[in-house]
Amino acid sequence: MFLREYIYNELQDVYPPEELKSLAKIISKEILQLSELDCYTGKYADLLTDKRDLLRNAIQRLRQFEPLQYIQGLAPFCGWLFCVAPGVLIPRPETEELAALIIKESSADSRILDIGTGSGCIAITLSKNIPGAVVEGWDVSEKALKIARRNNEELQANVSFCLVDILNDGIENKTFDIIVSNPPYITEKEKADMHPNVLNWEPDLALFVPDNDPLLFYRRIAKVGKNMLSPKGRLYFEINQYYSQETAQMLEDFGYKDIRIVKDLFENDRIITATL
Ligand SMILES: C[S@@+](CC[C@H](N)C(=O)[O-])C[C@H]1O[C@@H](n2cnc3c(N)ncnc32)[C@H](O)[C@@H]1O
Repeated sequence: MFLREYIYNELQDVYPPEELKSLAKIISKEILQLSELDCYTGKYADLLTDKRDLLRNAIQRLRQFEPLQYIQGLAPFCGWLFCVAPGVLIPRPETEELAALIIKESSADSRILDIGTGSGCIAITLSKNIPGAVVEGWDVSEKALKIARRNNEELQANVSFCLVDILNDGIENKTFDIIVSNPPYITEKEKADMHPNVLNWEPDLALFVPDNDPLLFYRRIAKVGKNMLSPKGRLYFEINQYYSQETAQMLEDFGYKDIRIVKDLFENDRIITATL
């Protein structure tokens, strides 16, 4: 049996036909390190034992809807590959737009804080792209920080990571020119529309906020931002598209100015930025 046929047979009862094609391609190329041609013309029976074990392991995990990025242990973000594992959010394309906006608008030597840093994708990207930037990444999850530190080392960035619970810890007197956050922002009621590969695998801690307080993190960060931002300092948030107006209003109530909502590639309100 050809390799591609084998992969299709093993996965066709759990994945739609249009996904099988790209899964077969990624498994062959990225996991088995074979060419696309091998995927079409190579035989399953000719695979060496180590590749067969890798293939079986990937198929077993995919059948449980584990995201491919966790199986590969890698996810792309802004041109780099970041290590990821269960316990840390897989970086999303919308967040690449947030990082790109900050790079476009920031000046050299900016002092930057990334709250809820996860894999460190935003903090590390900013550190590598803004000359002289001094970047910190905070997260409440030890597991996330371990991965962020590993990414920092492997990508030769220069970010300091700290364990901070932004909702409950007292915040040190520090000053930043930019505070960025992509905090948990999905309400519990939105769970019904989510795919099992997110719901069963990505950490709840990174995703959800209570239905009755969707702005929980934004309000707290806006409040501490009043003390931590430098005079012309700027906040950048990735936001829940359904609460953009409420988030803008909340920032105005805190006295923030020059509030802008930016749409993502899909024309959804996705970023909000404001200055002190
Ligand atoms: C949506 S994820 C964003 C991860 C990463 N910045 C990204 O964009 O891919 C939110 C992050 O906030 C962290 N987090 C959740 N509650 C927190 C808290 N109370 N204090 C600090 N970080 C928190 C989670 O561990 C998670 O890494």
